[in-house]
Amino acid sequence: MGCHDCHGGNPTQDDTQLAKDKSFKDAPKRAEIPEFCGSCHSDSAYMRKFNPNIRVDQLSLYRTSQHGQLLKKGDANAAVCTDCHGVHGIQSSSFPKSQTFPWNIPQTCGRCHANADFMKGYGIPVRQVDDYKQSVHARALFEKKDLSAPVCNDCHGNHGAAPPEVTSIAFVCRQCHPSAGELFSKSPHKQAFDDLGIAECEVCHGNHLISSPSDNFLAGGKADVCVQCHDAGTEPHQTGLKIKQQIDNFVASSEAAGALLATAERKGVEVSEARFKLQDASTALVLARNLTHALSPAEIEVSLEEGAKSLADAKTRGEGALREANFRRSGLIIATLFIMLLAAALYLKIRQIQAQSDR
Ligand code: HEC
Ligand code: HEC
Ligand code: HEC
Ligand code: HEC
Ligand code: HEC
Ligand code: HEC
Ligand code: HEC
Ligand code: HEC
Repeated sequence: MGCHDCHGGNPTQDDTQLAKDKSFKDAPKRAEIPEFCGSCHSDSAYMRKFNPNIRVDQLSLYRTSQHGQLLKKGDANAAVCTDCHGVHGIQSSSFPKSQTFPWNIPQTCGRCHANADFMKGYGIPVRQVDDYKQSVHARALFEKKDLSAPVCNDCHGNHGAAPPEVTSIAFVCRQCHPSAGELFSKSPHKQAFDDLGIAECEVCHGNHLISSPSDNFLAGGKADVCVQCHDAGTEPHQTGLKIKQQIDNFVASSEAAGALLATAERKGVEVSEARFKLQDASTALVLARNLTHALSPAEIEVSLEEGAKSLADAKTRGEGALREANFRRSGLIIATLFIMLLAAALYLKIRQIQAQSDR
């Protein structure tokens, strides 16, 4: 696009003053920018000429956002289009250097949201970016370069940036974690949380600083998330303890089987078949951990029983391998003894022949 597409004026005129003809417009003021950008971006007939797939709802979404609402009230601190996209260096968000490319977004939002001075007076935290950077999501995005991990706009929307309402948080998380969502919906927590207005995933996992969960999050664990609401000793907490016990027991047998196979491998016996069984068992464990969201020890039992069969199989194979290793070793000892005996007999025979020839 040329300068005149946005600023007007006559691009064929060499003289600056003459170029600023009647069509020339001054640069828009901050408060006018959304309408200014929207004058093209909301015009589907115009935009379709360039790109038939581009969305034309940015301005209307923006108006519904906290940013748009604030700007409407005359607060120029609210983000406008150019804060997130730039002015003269606007790039498509699929371009890695763009301000709106996933791994640049925390910085784009953080220019305001991580700036305590700037955000003073709004009474909202300014820790979102710092917290986010320590989360599993940031680790997946920045360390594993996993572009499917969420950044600010995946949870808040690009243009309708508003804090997700309690009821929509689950929807946000479920887009990417559907099975945890489904299991949660089946659990007694769904109705109870809805009635009490409790944020469903957030209450146990947080929002910006989501860490990698472990069995320690379960009831009775070091980071027990259940005691927030269920005192130790109450029935729901007891159910939680039962679930923890099921998982702990399985982990213990699975570690024992793993150790057995490692010993057999050190002794030089091939155990790849048993390793596959162990793999099946760990899949069952992943499923069971996911199933903790349904709060049903019975369902977890079913999943772990499948895994227990694989574990038992791995164990039998591991023990067989160890027996084989021991058998091989005793075979080796017998063979060595036999060879030593043979050598001794040979030595004696040679001595005997030498003695005979000396005579
Ligand atoms: C996509 C629309 C667009 C195009 C194309 C564009 N501008 Fe701008 N320009 C703006 C907006 C919006 C502002 C107001 C920026 C602000 O206030 O933050 C601006 C501001 C300016 C200003 C005021 C000083 C400043 O930087 O704030 C100048 C001068 C300017 N543009 C020159 C140009 C020239 C020269 C070109 C072509 C090379 C150009 N513009 C192309 C949208 C555009
Ligand atoms: C004169 C009309 C016009 C104005 C004014 C305008 N744009 Fe655009 N913009 C376009 C066109 C045309 C494209 C190219 C669309 C394409 O080919 O995909 C575009 C592309 C973009 C893209 C990249 C879209 C993509 O492909 O991912 C962004 C982001 C963008 N504009 C933001 C802005 C912002 C922010 C402003 C206001 C400062 C603005 N535009 C003002 C016409 C305009
Ligand atoms: C709070 C930051 C923010 C503001 C304000 C903002 N945008 Fe965006 N915009 C984004 C992000 C982030 C994306 C990239 C989304 C993605 O990854 O696909 C985007 C994408 C776009 C695109 C590409 C097409 C699309 O919708 O995916 C266009 C065009 C666009 N914005 C125009 C605008 C216009 C016009 C305004 C002002 C009315 C505006 N944006 C305000 C953050 C913002
Ligand atoms: C130019 C500064 C600026 C930028 C850039 C910016 N914001 Fe904001 N944002 C604000 C201000 C100011 C508020 C108003 C705070 C309030 O009303 O509580 C706000 C409000 C919000 C809110 C509502 C908070 C609440 O509870 O009221 C969310 C969510 C939000 N922004 C997300 C984002 C995201 C995501 C990005 C990046 C894609 C972003 N913002 C970029 C200035 C900015
Ligand atoms: C995994 C989803 C997710 C990501 C990623 C995310 N947020 Fe949030 N954000 C939330 C949830 C959930 C809330 C809380 C809403 C509530 O309790 O009503 C929230 C709240 C907020 C608020 C309101 C003030 C507060 O802290 O409660 C702001 C501002 C905000 N986020 C900005 C950001 C910014 C900036 C980023 C990127 C660094 C970001 N968020 C990344 C889910 C997310
Ligand atoms: C845009 C997709 C997306 C959204 C939205 C999202 N996540 Fe994630 N989440 C991921 C990805 C990708 C990973 C990283 C998986 C990995 O690399 O281990 C992840 C990891 C996690 C983990 C760690 C899993 C593990 O096994 O270590 C938890 C817990 C989690 N997310 C919870 C949430 C919650 C709660 C929300 C909503 C507030 C949410 N996520 C929103 C994509 C998403
Ligand atoms: C934010 C609060 C909260 C957290 C955290 C929480 N619960 Fe609950 N839980 C409830 C509420 C409210 C109910 C429904 C009322 C009741 O039965 O006590 C409930 C019900 C239950 C029930 C069903 C009880 C019944 O009799 O039907 C079980 C089982 C349960 N929770 C286990 C757990 C476990 C295990 C954890 C930790 C992984 C946990 N809860 C974490 C609030 C919570
Ligand atoms: C009552 C507390 C609680 C709630 C509510 C909750 N979780 Fe969890 N979540 C846990 C615990 C505890 C673990 C760890 C299980 C383990 O590793 O033994 C976990 C593990 C996870 C994991 C990693 C393991 C897996 O399942 O793949 C993800 C992802 C996850 N939760 C997402 C969610 C989402 C999405 C929601 C909302 C629909 C949610 N959680 C609601 C307690 C909760």
